[in-house]
Amino acid sequence: MVELVIKEPDIIDRMLAFEFVRVTERSAVAAAGLRGRGDEKAADQAAVDAMRSELNRLPISGTIVIGEGERDEAPMLFIGEKVGTGSGPAVDIAVDPLEGRTLCAKDMPGSISVMAIAKEGSLLYAPDVYMDKIAIGPGYPAGVVDLDRTPEDNIQALAKAKGVKPGEITVLILDRPRHANLIAACRKAGAAIRMITDGDVAGVIFTAQADSTGSDMYMGRGGAPEGVLAAGALRCVGGQMQGRLMFDTEEKRVRALAMGVKNAMKKYDMTELASGDVIVCATGVTDGALLRGVKWIGDVVETETVIYRSATGTVRKIRAEHRAMGKFSPV
Ligand code: FBP
Repeated sequence: MVELVIKEPDIIDRMLAFEFVRVTERSAVAAAGLRGRGDEKAADQAAVDAMRSELNRLPISGTIVIGEGERDEAPMLFIGEKVGTGSGPAVDIAVDPLEGRTLCAKDMPGSISVMAIAKEGSLLYAPDVYMDKIAIGPGYPAGVVDLDRTPEDNIQALAKAKGVKPGEITVLILDRPRHANLIAACRKAGAAIRMITDGDVAGVIFTAQADSTGSDMYMGRGGAPEGVLAAGALRCVGGQMQGRLMFDTEEKRVRALAMGVKNAMKKYDMTELASGDVIVCATGVTDGALLRGVKWIGDVVETETVIYRSATGTVRKIRAEHRAMGKFSPV
């Protein structure tokens, strides 16, 4: 007789994956109700409230390890907050209920609601500081790019590995004054630069679909929490990523050490940012290259969600039509 052995991570992954979809669907719809209203805070709060109430219905013993800040600053989904019914597996959860708040407030492309779930201790407990990041998609030899090399070296190495000229490489960078030198160096190396105004979780993920997005590499400084979420997703599709926390004040550095960061200077590899079995789930708020935004069509609310599951590398896209969502109509 063949005995069917289901490992614990499989149980977590398979039984709960679709429950997680409901969570980001709800938070995305809540935020989308405030698209284009110019009020980032209200849209964020709506997403946070919806995500929290959905998380609390799940049969998990969840701990928020990346959330909306620390307990004293953020009333909801603070780091350390327990979520779920408490009856299921112990999981760590990283959330960004509204990634790209400005994009949502201005109804610009690319805002999403996103979260990652992993076994306890698998996600870097990243404080709310910046992270220097570099990411490329799958299919390249390990170590072809490195955070500690110059942008020129990385562009040349990637071009060589891809079998193209440096001029055929496109680097995705957040449009920020702090990136002036990085942009100049990339241009000097001959690469094209695609700038995004916000949303570098999707920015990193785009490198995994370079053929369709045209973005070969992500470089630059963005949020550390977003770095962990992006690493979780990229792990599922097999790219490469490195990140290093950046502290602009001594106070932030000390706080990070207190949160469990052992070495403030450490260069983290993708598998250290998000290790073990990870599920990342994202629903579009506004239309974007990664996901369609929420649509209201008569009484029906449409959502599009992607779920990345590292155990198998499966990527599922789910388009849902919600019919019992009267209370989720736009304001
Ligand atoms: P928010 O949704 O929290 O505003 O984050 C958007 C974002 O663009 C992230 O994708 C990115 O990592 C971070 O902000 C960059 O930070 P900053 O806007 O301070 O440069």
